[in-house]
Amino acid sequence: MDSEAAFFETNATPGTVGQPLSRVDGRAKVTGAAKYSAEYNRLPGLVHAVLKTSDVAKSRVTGIDTSAAQREPGVLAIFTHQNLPKPALTAETKQGKEAIGPSGQMTFLPLQSDQIFYAGQPVAVVVADTLEHAQHAAAKLRVTIAPEAPVASYQDSKAQVFNSGPNGAAQGVRGKAAEAFSAAPVQLTATYTHATNHHNPMEPGATVAHWEAADRLTVYDTVQGVAWHQQALSAYLGLPQDHVRVLTKFLGGGFGGKSAIWPHTVLAALTAKAVGRPVKLVLTRPQMFTSMGHREDQQQILRVGATKEGKLLALLHEKTSTTSPWDNYAESNHKIVEMLYACPAFEATTKLSRANVMTATWMRAPGESPGSFAIECAMDDLAAQLGLNPLEIRLRNYADKDPSTGKPWSSKSLKECYQRGAELFGWNKRNPKNGATRDGNMLVGYGMATGSYPVHNGQGNARVRLYADGHAVVQAGATDIGTGTYTIITQVAADCLGIAPEKVRFELGDSALPTTILSGGSMGAGTYASSVYVAVQDLWQKLTKLAVTDAKSPLFRTKPAEVEVVQGRLQLKANSAKGEDFATLMRRSNLTDLEGSGLGRYGAGYESAQAHATANGKSDDAGRDEPGHHAMHSFGAHFCEVHVDPDLGTVRVTRWVSVIGGGRILNPKTARSQIMGGAIMGIGAALMEQTVRDPNLARYTNASLADYHVPVNADIPDMTVEFIDEHDPYINAMGVKGIGEVSIVGTMAAVGNAIFHATGRRLRDLPMTPNKVLAALRQPV
Ligand code: MOS
Repeated sequence: MDSEAAFFETNATPGTVGQPLSRVDGRAKVTGAAKYSAEYNRLPGLVHAVLKTSDVAKSRVTGIDTSAAQREPGVLAIFTHQNLPKPALTAETKQGKEAIGPSGQMTFLPLQSDQIFYAGQPVAVVVADTLEHAQHAAAKLRVTIAPEAPVASYQDSKAQVFNSGPNGAAQGVRGKAAEAFSAAPVQLTATYTHATNHHNPMEPGATVAHWEAADRLTVYDTVQGVAWHQQALSAYLGLPQDHVRVLTKFLGGGFGGKSAIWPHTVLAALTAKAVGRPVKLVLTRPQMFTSMGHREDQQQILRVGATKEGKLLALLHEKTSTTSPWDNYAESNHKIVEMLYACPAFEATTKLSRANVMTATWMRAPGESPGSFAIECAMDDLAAQLGLNPLEIRLRNYADKDPSTGKPWSSKSLKECYQRGAELFGWNKRNPKNGATRDGNMLVGYGMATGSYPVHNGQGNARVRLYADGHAVVQAGATDIGTGTYTIITQVAADCLGIAPEKVRFELGDSALPTTILSGGSMGAGTYASSVYVAVQDLWQKLTKLAVTDAKSPLFRTKPAEVEVVQGRLQLKANSAKGEDFATLMRRSNLTDLEGSGLGRYGAGYESAQAHATANGKSDDAGRDEPGHHAMHSFGAHFCEVHVDPDLGTVRVTRWVSVIGGGRILNPKTARSQIMGGAIMGIGAALMEQTVRDPNLARYTNASLADYHVPVNADIPDMTVEFIDEHDPYINAMGVKGIGEVSIVGTMAAVGNAIFHATGRRLRDLPMTPNKVLAALRQPV
């Protein structure tokens, strides 16, 4: 039983992996028993912190009068840049110089000087005995400032745009793209824009910071990765990593916004230490728009060169987006443009402009989601120009190997996704003519688009404790972002141990548990599941050793290689009748319980470790840093029908089909929900989501859920989601690709392409709101 050597097979009939198990935490959530980070209210002496933020985007604080606020009841302390204790940054993480923490993002910490860099920046923290007292006192603070004219975005006439590629160089270069484009018989050039979007999880950012001792901090926080957060916080506070403990037992959504560390967490920790009491700091909904990042406002210019038959010859991609005064974060849109279709020549340029805004951050399929809007609308335009079916143009440019690297795919069932999606949707009923289908007064359009998301390289640990009474506890410092991690890992452990899922308890969300990756980059399910599988194999090995050395065991003196595990039982491969179950063996050995642990890998690291294991005939970690031999991606196809009201410009999505090739689907019920969630988020970005920044004040004008529109039930039809049965032995021990992000990629283009089909007008400015649709309809075709 080599560690990780075997591709996961459950050996269990009927297994629970692959079954639509309902959420194991569902009851706790609907009854309110599930405790979210802001609900840790029982800590002795808990007090409340409130942020006082700047309404002005660029300024200096010239004075803060705290006297009236100080006199309010219950106030314990008021912190400004003049009296906030400085964070004891570790030597390697000097503020303003280096990235802090493993996220690689340098997160600005406010209250370090009198400078104001963005609207919403905290200028004071008020700590009081109750939330109401803190809010009331914060309202009594008098802050005087010296405002200056801010830069609002890359579109600002004051904006200074710079090339942010490595050393200013172009990215993803293959062939001679500019020359190939110039020589191409068919040429398309178009500009695509994407509004600022905010993650807006239901659960706001919240931190409860509790110093258990002068140099030991526990935080209950809203984070996608407790280990990442532990590392970042320990770096900020100059503490050994193990002196910081981070707990996130339940998370009410994140979408990338809860990945990096944000200022409010550090402010909660610093103020808790200063007042000597546990501090709770919960962001308000308006503060959510300026405290945890966003998807940047951006522009893409895509140039496409093709043959008259529609074969791609050249792709040139140029992106410009807005960043904060202090970091160079930019979504890598070019990566999907680079790999989605076979094309001999490619080149990308990434440009940034600093503005007086909070930094942008990862948001569901960062790069792939907005990048796919450009390439997938362009492919649709190319099809229209050449009189080809949009599906046909994609098949003519189908990439049989990864165009970026030339490597073969570890698996790719995109053709099956196209075929099944077209069948489920009724794509062949599409009238080839734009603007020619009506339902009463409504213009009807069919659109489709391709999605893809990479299998990144990640790893993580897990521990499994099996009790002789047939129960098990599984542990990993994982997080359940709300998508079903508790459930799927329970299923995996149950199958591996041959017990019912009811007998498994999966503990997660605590940095004191074995360190693993964050719920991000679509890596959670595959990494956690593989690590549990490896941990159980460790347990199997220990049990096998016990059995073959125990004179009372039916397997006494058997070679371990001749023993197999089937449904919680050790038995001879050659004679399944000869064997015993785990519990019998453990009891006879006076073991009430036994533990296994292991490291699971995800992506290229897994593949190279496997290759070494095969070559050496034994498990070997030597290959883990080598790049994989395969290109690894999930793929999918989205199909959309819209009704466009020609009088009002409103767009209604009336039908939706997504078919996804995402490796092994651990639970089709939670997976379906995840695909629907991603598609709905994409429909939101396509049709309504935009955070409007005032061009003069650089301040958001719609920082609330009343004014920032997200889709509601009435906006979304019943959706059809299917998965292609896909077996991929290269990506991890479980064959899981991750589906959290492929779900959104291509969805905005599917909507835009459907609007194009309905109206004959191409909209390239997201979101495609009724005013833009009406304006387009008034233009001649
Ligand atoms: Mo995500 S944007 O990988 O949390």
